[in-house]
Amino acid sequence: MDKYGIIGFPLSHSISPQIHNLAFKTLKIDAQYEKFEIDPSDFENAISYIKTRGWKGFNVTIPFKERIIALLDEIDPISAEIGAINTVKVSGNRWIGFNTDYLGFMRPLENDLNNINSALVLGAGGAARAVVYGLLEKSNIKNLIIANRTKSRAEKLLQSLKNTIKVNIDIIDLNDVYKPDIPINLIVNTTSVGMGALKEETPVKILKKFNNSIIYDLIYNPKKSKLLQLAQAQGCKIINGLPMLIYQADESFKIWTDKHFPEMVINNFLS
Ligand code: ATR
Repeated sequence: MDKYGIIGFPLSHSISPQIHNLAFKTLKIDAQYEKFEIDPSDFENAISYIKTRGWKGFNVTIPFKERIIALLDEIDPISAEIGAINTVKVSGNRWIGFNTDYLGFMRPLENDLNNINSALVLGAGGAARAVVYGLLEKSNIKNLIIANRTKSRAEKLLQSLKNTIKVNIDIIDLNDVYKPDIPINLIVNTTSVGMGALKEETPVKILKKFNNSIIYDLIYNPKKSKLLQLAQAQGCKIINGLPMLIYQADESFKIWTDKHFPEMVINNFLS
């Protein structure tokens, strides 16, 4: 039996094992996907142990998506530019790193791409890197605004994606989000404001101008964050983080097995 897994911390709420194991079962692939929670202070030891597990591939999630890079033998060039790895393929003894988050992020937007000229991305962490890369590479946007609490982090993000930048990009403070005077067609929340202890909060206070925009929140627990609830009440199209989660998993699965998820697996988690 082939073995696959996920590393991260915490992992108690991860549904990746359910998703991948259903796909293996449906496709009659003799394989098992397991969770391996790693305390960040024990990362290097845990990685040595993982080398003995015989995994053929694994996912990497918060907070190790950047830290794993130093331990890879090879990295896909696009993923290197994004600067975050969520998928590792084990080929012999070699670890090859990929980012499938940016593809997963773009999938629910496929039918709206012609209507998106300007986008606002809230946040500048690891998830924002995949989002910004996806928008720059796979959409026709002309303007992009990145709003982050820590402005220098957004500047660093742009610096590392400089080869991909073909559009006008502005960086603003999260508190100044109400200021852009260009119409924005898409707003993406990549911050953690809206989940866990911040469940009752929204990353931005003013939603008056957001009419007719698509509001896309990467949060999937809760399914409808406060931001999405407010946006929906204003008549905006809303997208939560669940499709991105399923489609990034699908792209990882493709890298490992050369097969996409059967439609049934996707529908099972999206409905
Ligand atoms: P991920 O990999 O999910 O992107 P991350 O790299 O830790 O996680 O990034 C978290 C993002 O949420 C960052 O943009 C962070 O802002 P800072 O760069 O200023 O830290 C943002 N964030 C987290 N908590 C926040 C809060 N309470 N208010 C505003 N932004 C917050």
